[in-house]
Amino acid sequence: MSTKIRIGALISGSGTNLQAIINGCERGTLSGQMVFVGSDNPDAAGLERAKRSGIPTFVVDYASIIQKCSKSSQKLSAPPDFNLDEAISKQDFFGSKADAEKTKFFLTTRAIAEAQLLSRMKAFAYDLLVLAGFMRNLTPYFIDRVNTKRSEPRIMNIHPSLLPAFPGIDGYGETFRYGCKVGGCTVHFIDYGEDTGPIIGQRAFQISDTDTVDSIREKGLKLEWQLYPECIQLYAEGRLKTKKMTYTSGGGQKNERTIVRIEPPTS
Ligand code: GAR
Repeated sequence: MSTKIRIGALISGSGTNLQAIINGCERGTLSGQMVFVGSDNPDAAGLERAKRSGIPTFVVDYASIIQKCSKSSQKLSAPPDFNLDEAISKQDFFGSKADAEKTKFFLTTRAIAEAQLLSRMKAFAYDLLVLAGFMRNLTPYFIDRVNTKRSEPRIMNIHPSLLPAFPGIDGYGETFRYGCKVGGCTVHFIDYGEDTGPIIGQRAFQISDTDTVDSIREKGLKLEWQLYPECIQLYAEGRLKTKKMTYTSGGGQKNERTIVRIEPPTS
């Protein structure tokens, strides 16, 4: 028997994954309770889904924050506890050759938006934060303030591809354009990169010559709606253990990798 966990969600769009999670909580197949739904997009249809189920919602309008910052003079008013050098050293979105000004603008504007997200989220006690079609990269500023225990990540994401293939904003489109024979979806804990972080679960489907981007998305979403609640349930049961493992490569060199071990159920 697992305890009910308190789940917060961030969304950007239609919220069909959110709906699958809400349904799981309402039907009791998921030992969880939704405590808030936040969005970067005031027009996200998923906000209505949350309201229909009586879940508190809030919006932090990223687009208008970023637009205001681009118009204002060079000095962006970052949150007082934001440390640019620390964010630069931790982030894993841009390579070392990235334009320094662009990196600074990205990390600072996102921290401004993320400080607002954190302040809205502070009103709710939550155990797990799920990104359900949240189309913004979260930076180290936000991640470190949610993952307060280093060894216990608690931000999950669902991505429309078999990661590490096709990170970014159009996983099913990329799967189609590349001519893949198999597509899929991935649930993972997030880290400081784009759609990186230890993988919790993956599901795959076959692709035929007659499939289109739409039919691939349809097949993928159906699997997403099963996989995400299942992974959240494993979290609720305390069965996900993130572990650093060492292995020896051909040349005898010791390497490290991080995996999520799924522990057997305790009955
Ligand atoms: C889903 O396909 C999800 O995997 C994807 O956005 C869609 C949201 O649909 N997420 C990403 O691409 C994140 N990089 P939904 O709003 O109906 O759940």
